[in-house]
Amino acid sequence: MSVNYTKLDSEKLEYVIVAETDEIPNGDRIFLDIDDHSLVVFNIAGKYFAIADICSHDDGPLGDGEIATEFEIACPRHGARFDIRSGEAKSLPASLDIPAYPVRVIDGRIEVGIPIES
Ligand code: FES
Repeated sequence: MSVNYTKLDSEKLEYVIVAETDEIPNGDRIFLDIDDHSLVVFNIAGKYFAIADICSHDDGPLGDGEIATEFEIACPRHGARFDIRSGEAKSLPASLDIPAYPVRVIDGRIEVGIPIES
């Protein structure tokens, strides 16, 4: 099963409020746990993205990594890059994608879609 949850139908997701928009300024990020999902939520140029805070290479924490290019984060441990829009692994040593979660803003609140376990 794909871990790019941004592609899931909305009825397969439960949206959870994670912050007010002014709590994640442009260029900033927050870390949070929802159930057993460890996430990092980014604001990049006014758009919000959420990915897992776990690198698929060696389970290292990913969210503190540098934004290497506009939409790529580099793992702080061994440098693997991931697309923060899709979770796609973009460079070795990671070859497996990481979860990416849909994000929406309603009435100034940022909500992240968590897949409903079936
Ligand atoms: S743990 Fe991320 S590249 Fe190795």
